[in-house]
Amino acid sequence: MSGVNEIRSTFLDYFRKNGHEAVASSPLVPRNDPTLMFTNAGMVQFKNVFTGLETRPYSRAATSQKCVRAGGKHNDLDNVGYTARHHTFFEMLGNFSFGDYFKEDAIAFAWNLITKELGIDAQRLLVTIYHTDDEAAGYWKKIAGLSDDRIIRIATSDNFWAMGDTGPCGPCSEIFYDHGNDIPGGPPGSPDEDGDRFIEIWNLVFMQYEQISKDQRIDLPRPSIDTGMGLERIAAVLQGVHDNYDIDLFKALIRASEEATGVKAEGKNRASHRVIADHLRASSFLIADGVLPSNEGRGYVLRRIMRRAMRHAQLLGAGEPLMWRLVPALVREMGQAYPELVRGQALITETLKLEEKRFRKTLARGLGLLADASDSLNAGDRLDGETAFKLYDTYGFPLDLTQDALRQRGISVDTDGFSAAMERQKAEARAHWAGSGEAATETVWFGLRDKVGATEFLGYDTEAAEGVISALVKGGVETGQAAAGDEIAIVVNQTPFYGESGGQVGDTGIIAGEGFSIEITGTQKKADGLFVHSGRVVSGSPKVGDVVELKVDAARRARIRRNHSATHLVHEALREVLGTHVAQKGSLVAPDRLRFDFSHPKPIAAGELAQIEDFANEIILQNAPVTTRLMAVDDAIAEGAMALFGEKYGDEVRVVSMGTALHGEKEGKSYSTELCGGTHVAATGDIGLVRLVSEGAVAAGVRRIEALTGDAARAHLDEQDRRLKAAAAALKVSPADVVSRIEAVLDERKKLERELADVKKKLALGGGGTAGGSNEAEKVAGVGFLGRVVEGVSAKELKPLADEGKASVGSGIVVFVGTDADKASVVVGVTDDLIGRFSAVDLVRAASAAIGGKGGGGRPDMAQAGGPDAANANAAIDAVRQALTA
Ligand code: ALA
Repeated sequence: MSGVNEIRSTFLDYFRKNGHEAVASSPLVPRNDPTLMFTNAGMVQFKNVFTGLETRPYSRAATSQKCVRAGGKHNDLDNVGYTARHHTFFEMLGNFSFGDYFKEDAIAFAWNLITKELGIDAQRLLVTIYHTDDEAAGYWKKIAGLSDDRIIRIATSDNFWAMGDTGPCGPCSEIFYDHGNDIPGGPPGSPDEDGDRFIEIWNLVFMQYEQISKDQRIDLPRPSIDTGMGLERIAAVLQGVHDNYDIDLFKALIRASEEATGVKAEGKNRASHRVIADHLRASSFLIADGVLPSNEGRGYVLRRIMRRAMRHAQLLGAGEPLMWRLVPALVREMGQAYPELVRGQALITETLKLEEKRFRKTLARGLGLLADASDSLNAGDRLDGETAFKLYDTYGFPLDLTQDALRQRGISVDTDGFSAAMERQKAEARAHWAGSGEAATETVWFGLRDKVGATEFLGYDTEAAEGVISALVKGGVETGQAAAGDEIAIVVNQTPFYGESGGQVGDTGIIAGEGFSIEITGTQKKADGLFVHSGRVVSGSPKVGDVVELKVDAARRARIRRNHSATHLVHEALREVLGTHVAQKGSLVAPDRLRFDFSHPKPIAAGELAQIEDFANEIILQNAPVTTRLMAVDDAIAEGAMALFGEKYGDEVRVVSMGTALHGEKEGKSYSTELCGGTHVAATGDIGLVRLVSEGAVAAGVRRIEALTGDAARAHLDEQDRRLKAAAAALKVSPADVVSRIEAVLDERKKLERELADVKKKLALGGGGTAGGSNEAEKVAGVGFLGRVVEGVSAKELKPLADEGKASVGSGIVVFVGTDADKASVVVGVTDDLIGRFSAVDLVRAASAAIGGKGGGGRPDMAQAGGPDAANANAAIDAVRQALTA
């Protein structure tokens, strides 16, 4: 007997041996198809390869693909638990040819694998083909030796496979396994084909066409192959059981839930255990692929699945949250094939625990209300829509949970009444908005949010995705279509673009579709979850409903990510070095730098800054994974996660942790843990390096630091290095000697300045005077007179010169005119014995006029003035002479 893990690897090995590339399963959230809610077949990730839009380095591939069929077109949720083969989550084994082999090889590969490798009895197999496909019939005869009665021609869409309303499609051929005549049911195409005896195990699709629209179908560039075999079904066949829930994998999961609840999977409890096992898989895989429970879109489908299982846990009498306790069993069974389960185990566990804890608060009361309301109802009756809506609105019961709860009693729910009640509530909310006083320009977003719903954000996992335009806004007004050159705002049903929030700037990039392209210069969040991209239509005319490809500027996003994770590290390092009074006051996470404002009463010393930088870089060097968990706000804060004061958080928050503390009280524990909705690096090493580049005050008690990371930090260091080298070259020393050389040069300069001042003084007082000046004290108007022009001497230096001049003449008047470039300053000194006769203030005025100055001032014994006409320096001295003789 082969276990599920063994069958999966046998399948992949077989196709690998036959020249196929074994490709990993794509995520459950399709990145390349906005029309799909979840990946629901193996070919989804290859859709664009079939149509020729995309090329791969291989032309044959094989996968084991995670699929979810719950919500959207394929919705198996309602049946799960009550049938042998319905699942919300299942694995599809498939082999693919992209214009390589076609029907003949596809049939040969399949037949050989089933009958030889897996050893299934050929006598139990029969096939269907599309009724006109004689070619396929011929190959089945030739390769498998099947007789005509075991090649059943089907004329319906059952044998024409299409991915959806549009996309690749083609006739198909299905392989059926006969579980034996003890099980009721007829072969495909017969009136009782819906019985359980003949089970389809493998679908071979001969991909030939692409459905462009309802009425248009074109040929694919090359005929191709897409096949799908449900792993759970083939496992049931190989393990000799009829029911998928009896295969090894499900038995292990059901055993875990039996042990956790102490209730056997028998009688009426059997369905509950099956629901739990199935939904555990779907929930865990969805969470691992980035979906989190919410009230909208994919998140709501996840919530419905989780809550349905949680009600069944309650039915089994579980007194405490159950689902999270089963995660280890799931990881044991499937973690090896899907490492994302191992990576996401903490997030899965906490998300399940939180949701169940929360739901249990209202579950019992809701069930009580439901019991009261349905007490008097009998099989065939309908529960009123108002009650179903109240259960939804007040007790968190998704509609299908209420339906599921009543199903066993044969009671249905008035879904129209439910929708009407829902609509009424929305209308009330709308009326409330209208009166809430929002600025007129912003009201457009509230209306839109109501009309198109919240945007699904895919940007934690991907930077490129497809979407459908749900709205275009030009000049604050909704429009159906935009034209080249228009400045517009665009809303898409899902987006990888981060909307500015929590200090992190919005993403930029390109949104393009058939014949048009829009350059996105910013992304903002508006009105409760609406992501609004703004930009300019570069070419073409996008319109509402168009399919678009959204591409975030990945290099810019990588820088933003580095700066965001580094902000967390710096924040923690600040607390470690300065103290836990450090609290975030503001933050900017931009592509080129990060800025962080925080409470701290005084400047940070250079030594502290260096230590902060060191501590943050230590964690970068750890190259520790950055983990994200979803938690209740209170639990997260109780666990020590840093929350921002005044920030509005929802009930559930993302908690981002990184690194292991190397010192201090936290040693050995998580280094940084913060509530954060931003995008982060995968491991701290991705930051490369953090470099603090400035520190200063922004307000009383608030400091600001700026830092660079990654390539920006390196560019900064390069620039510093370049400058140092240039300085060394100018000084003609090695970089290591720059500082001592500069010190020596400065010392020498000081010495030279002193010497120069001495020389100038000597010159001014002694010989070497210029024309017009006097060599030694002359007599003017009977008193001693010393007048000198001294070049390159500033106003400041003139006064001491005048003092010395006065001392040298003993009794008299001294005049010094200092010239400096084309400015002149003059000082006049009068020795004390002459103060009664002459005033330095009057005399300097005369000098000032000569050099174009405004008069100057001072005391009777010493006055100063300045003027622009340095060329008239000698005239200034003459002017004083004249003033003396006047
Ligand atoms: N794409 C095909 C299916 O899902 C194989 O059945």
